[in-house]
Amino acid sequence: MGRLLCFLLCFSSFLISATFADWNILNQRTKGGLKISLKSYCEGWRINVELHNIQGFAVVPEECVSYIGKYVTSIQYKVDSERTIEECRLYLSTSCPLKKDGKDAWLFDIDDTLLSTVPYFKKHHFGGEKLNLTLLEGWMRNILDQPQLTTLLMLVIMVGTRLILRGPDDELNEVQQYKANVRKQLISNGYRIWGVVGDQYSSFEGLPSVRRSFKLPNPFYYVS
Ligand SMILES: *[C@@H]1O[C@H](CO)[C@@H](O)[C@H](O)[C@H]1NC(C)=O
Repeated sequence: MGRLLCFLLCFSSFLISATFADWNILNQRTKGGLKISLKSYCEGWRINVELHNIQGFAVVPEECVSYIGKYVTSIQYKVDSERTIEECRLYLSTSCPLKKDGKDAWLFDIDDTLLSTVPYFKKHHFGGEKLNLTLLEGWMRNILDQPQLTTLLMLVIMVGTRLILRGPDDELNEVQQYKANVRKQLISNGYRIWGVVGDQYSSFEGLPSVRRSFKLPNPFYYVS
């Protein structure tokens, strides 16, 4: 009980100091008193989005829009994303005893996994303005209509991949619930889902749980 009380007291004093502190983006300091740059501040924001400590954000904080723009157009973003795919390959080759009976499955998100939306966000303030799903989906539909992409999708389907798209009936479901339902459906049809690669936590959470998930960086938006 003593310990619990102490925890509560510490916690409330933390809240009070955070509320009344003279908060200024240009005057940020670490607990040890070190002055930090805007870049470190925004890097901290981005990492905590990826760690899923920051959830449900509606827009990239205004002061970090320029940093996020630089990050997603940098070599670092490519290296970070390629590393994710490298880890998928490693896991697939070492830890997945595939049966190759047509029932081995791997799930991919489409937007920001198979299809980058960086060109869209270049024109939309790098996530600094609230996501307009109608506009983004219109943009994606445009891309999906292009002949080279149709060919790619045809090829994907020919090598045994199924494309599962959210239909109007699914609109009522939250994305996480929708994706969990897709996994449930696939498993009941006898598929073994070895892994999932996506850019949102909602692609992995919920039941049935996934064996392994691989999270690609996405600092633009949050989908629950
Ligand atoms: C999204 O964009 C469309 C087209 O510009 C606009 O008509 C609509 O009002 C926007 N929706 C929101 C929620 O801002």
